[in-house]
Amino acid sequence: MRIVVAIGGSILVQDYSHDKYQEYSEILKDLSSEHEIFVVVGGGRPARDYIGLARNLGAGEAKCDDVGIEVTRINAKMMLLALGDYGYQKVPHNFQEALEYSATGKIIVMGGTEPAHSTDAVSAILAEFVNADLLINLTSVDGMYTKDPNKFDDAELVSEVTATYLLDFIKDKEVKAGTYEFFDQTAVQMIKRSELETVIANGNDPKNLIKAINGEKIGTRVISG
Ligand code: UTP
Repeated sequence: MRIVVAIGGSILVQDYSHDKYQEYSEILKDLSSEHEIFVVVGGGRPARDYIGLARNLGAGEAKCDDVGIEVTRINAKMMLLALGDYGYQKVPHNFQEALEYSATGKIIVMGGTEPAHSTDAVSAILAEFVNADLLINLTSVDGMYTKDPNKFDDAELVSEVTATYLLDFIKDKEVKAGTYEFFDQTAVQMIKRSELETVIANGNDPKNLIKAINGEKIGTRVISG
């Protein structure tokens, strides 16, 4: 399969430990013997910190986004260091480059592309661009809940949702630099229009990536409609 894997920055960059990069790189290396893998990494706390700094200096939203993009690309470089020879040692800055570099047969790792969306959207557009069989979004929550699980005890994990429903669910969320919550609208629009098979799962356990690929019941599966 051709698979796009989005890994949230909050998963990878935890107190600047290299553990998660290492754990993910081992799994990605194994998977690459059977699958064609594209990875998109997020910015996490460092992106938010630098965006905050830029905002305090008077930078507008698009410039703050640009700062966030630079941080995601540094995180992508870290993943390439962890992958070593298994990864193509250059971070693509756009989808065309990602496709070109993939001709080497190596794992491609990228961060952001341009302002006004998050790396969730990058992963969904990349999945469209390379005609991926599966998009897996590894984030800091288990998937989509019926309501905010931090506030409501009776919140339930939704195992399957249509792209249309998900779009409606997230439509009122913040879209400022560094503040994309749960899942970004552009990403869902891409998933909807191209009927991308998508799984959103908790990335704190890297083995969830293997489970998602094996079709095990995990997280939230986004279905067409
Ligand atoms: P993230 O994708 O990490 O955003 O990109 P996020 O959802 O806020 O954070 P996590 O990692 O999932 O917790 C960081 C920031 O970089 C900018 C946005 O400002 C985003 O919030 N960005 C990223 C872009 O403007 N364009 C891109 O293609 C990627």
